[in-house]
Amino acid sequence: MRPTLVVGNWKMNGSRAVNAELLQGILAGLSPDIQASCAVCVPAPYLFQCEQLLAGSSVAWGAQDVATEPCGAFTGEVCVSMLHDFGCRYVIVGHSERRGYHGESNELVARKAKAALDAGLTPIVCIGETLEQREAGETNDVVGGQLHAVLELVGFEDVSRLVLAYEPVWAIGTGKTATPEMAQQVHADMRALVRKCNVDAAETVQILYGGSMKPENARELLAQPDIDGGLIGGAALKADDFLAILRAA
Ligand code: G3P
Repeated sequence: MRPTLVVGNWKMNGSRAVNAELLQGILAGLSPDIQASCAVCVPAPYLFQCEQLLAGSSVAWGAQDVATEPCGAFTGEVCVSMLHDFGCRYVIVGHSERRGYHGESNELVARKAKAALDAGLTPIVCIGETLEQREAGETNDVVGGQLHAVLELVGFEDVSRLVLAYEPVWAIGTGKTATPEMAQQVHADMRALVRKCNVDAAETVQILYGGSMKPENARELLAQPDIDGGLIGGAALKADDFLAILRAA
C-alpha cells in the first residue's frame, strides 16, 4: 500500500497575510486521524514564509517550477540550489499551465525533473491531455509521450524518486472532475509504463490526481487502487477544504 500524498498547488495566488492565515489554519486543523502526508507548493517569493511557518511541522513545502541549469545568466529563473536554500522538498514540473503558456516541451519537462532529482528534490511531474486530445482518442499517446520523455531521461534507477501527477487539462479549474473510473484507468496505464522501466518502482511510485479534486469527490477518487493522492488547486486555498481532502484519504 503506497502512502497517500496531498499537495496544494497555490499557483499564482497569495499574500503574506493570506498565506499566514491559510498555513496557520492548516496547521491548527492537522490531527492524528489524518493519515496522508501533505505539502504546499507556493510562488517562489513565499518560500521563505513557508520555511518560517512550516519548519518542524508535518507539512512540507516546495516550488511550482525550476530552471534546468545551475545558477547563472538566466534572468527571472530560479535554480535548484535556491529551492534548497529555502528547505524545499518538492517542485512541480510540467504543469499544463506552464506547458501551455510557456511552451514547455516534454524534453524540457524531463530536464527539469532530472535537475530536481540530481539536487535531491522530489519533482512532481504533471502529465495530462487536453479535451481535444481526449475527444480525439489521443489520451494514451499524449500521456505516454509525456511520461516516456521523463522515464527515458531520468533512468530506471531514479524512477522511484519521482512523484507523478495525472492532471487532465480539461478538469483543471473547471469543476469537471474526471470520474474515478476514468482517472483510475489513466493512472493504471501510467503505472504500467513505469513497470516496463522498473518493476519495483512501479509499485512504489506515487501517482497523484489533479483536476477539480474537492472535499465532496476526494474520497471516491482516493479510493481507487492507483490513485495515491491529489494535486489540489482551488481547494488548497481554503484551509477547511484542504483539510477535508486530507481527511478523505
Ligand atoms: O496542479 C493542480 C491544479 O492544476 C488543479 O487545480 O483548481 O482544478 O484543483 P484545481
